[in-house]
Amino acid sequence: MPKPQKHIFVCTQNRPESHPRGACSQKGCTAVFDEFMKQMQQRNLWEKISVTYSGCLGPCSQGTSVVVYPEAVMYGKVTPADVATIFDEHLMNNQVVERLRVPSDVWG
Ligand code: FES
Repeated sequence: MPKPQKHIFVCTQNRPESHPRGACSQKGCTAVFDEFMKQMQQRNLWEKISVTYSGCLGPCSQGTSVVVYPEAVMYGKVTPADVATIFDEHLMNNQVVERLRVPSDVWG
């Protein structure tokens, strides 16, 4: 298996509704993950990019949280509509999507 050039982790953490931190599962993370997989399929990037479910990545208030390595760029409040932009700009052209990047005091 070739080593991926980029590896995306999508938080799919679940917690009880009453939990004070909330969770990405309450913010549509499954639809975000599904859109990443759909884009992978459409673009046939299986040899270059990996997408993996993740537990909590830390900034729960920013969910759905997504981190891209090797750059360690954290995106927050990601929706399915944002995923194609992450592919077009970051994954294919190495341009961080600044409007989705979490603040540096959250991930810095
Ligand atoms: S639950 Fe997703 S970042 Fe914590």
